[in-house]
Amino acid sequence: PIPVIVDTDGGVDDALALIMALNSPQLDLKAVTVVAGNVNVDLATNNVLHVLSIVEPDTSPIVAKGCEKPLVRPPFNAAGIHGADGLGELDQFLEADGTPRYPKLTIEPSTENAIELLLKTAQEYGDSLIIIALGPLTNLATAIQKDGATMKKIGRIVIMGGAVTVPGNITAAAEFNFFVDPHAAQIVMESGIPLTLVGLDVTMKAPLARQVVEDNLQRRPSKVTQFIADCTGIYMTFHRDNEGFHGCYLHDPLAVAVAIDPSLVTTKSLYMMVETEGRFTSGMSLGDRRDRRSEKTNPPNVEACLEVDTERFLQLFDQLV
Ligand code: BDR
Ligand code: CA
Repeated sequence: PIPVIVDTDGGVDDALALIMALNSPQLDLKAVTVVAGNVNVDLATNNVLHVLSIVEPDTSPIVAKGCEKPLVRPPFNAAGIHGADGLGELDQFLEADGTPRYPKLTIEPSTENAIELLLKTAQEYGDSLIIIALGPLTNLATAIQKDGATMKKIGRIVIMGGAVTVPGNITAAAEFNFFVDPHAAQIVMESGIPLTLVGLDVTMKAPLARQVVEDNLQRRPSKVTQFIADCTGIYMTFHRDNEGFHGCYLHDPLAVAVAIDPSLVTTKSLYMMVETEGRFTSGMSLGDRRDRRSEKTNPPNVEACLEVDTERFLQLFDQLV
């Protein structure tokens, strides 16, 4: 199996992605580093620990807390989309006897800092290591700023973020993860590390229907299917009210899937920049699609996913959750 680190901001689709990574025989999840994004870094860390307590893997990855805020921008969260706790407000769920279904956790994250852990793991596994980045890129950019040479040893970063051919989701121009920390995203783009970009071009072609979640809970009731039904409630209601379908996009799970099986997507090599200023376009990812014209001045720095085999992806998702 491929050694991987998941860097996450602890939201609902992050949780689904983490379940996939924990259950995939093709991945060996060494560590989970946590960053502020959907919610603050403490809540996000707690959410990662929640997922571990539900999945109960044979060997648990190290969980380390990272950056509390973006490099330059003030914090910006998505609690309105993922629920106040970032995970569908798990407090609301009670068992038949009135006890909380998701009691307060007794496990704690590692005392190690996420940036140190990223660098240590990069050093140890070198180009066999893949980092799957599911939140704002603050932790990764900080590690690159601290010791770029070590970070350059890793094999690849698979990033859920940005978009090439479609509009943003949090603003007309920007995807959420890049919007929250555009400076970090630009540092990662310029890092020279091999990058795969799993942006909205493909993630918005991969929706999960509410009905599938309900059916799975009926067909194979378990702690995991119950948790998935519970934590996706608020997130799916948001999609129903704003995206016109009852279900949700599987943004972060698709990034994990691409790390497992790159043949699920077709990619284009291109040069990508992230707007860090911009009155209307802050956080916008700009992929140079001029082909031959740009090659001389701007050699490609990302493999951007443009098409996805949705059916095969949903099959893989179903197998792993
Ligand atoms: C991204 O934004 C977050 O809210 C999701 O977890 C995902 O990583 C999608 O734009
Ligand atoms: Ca995320």
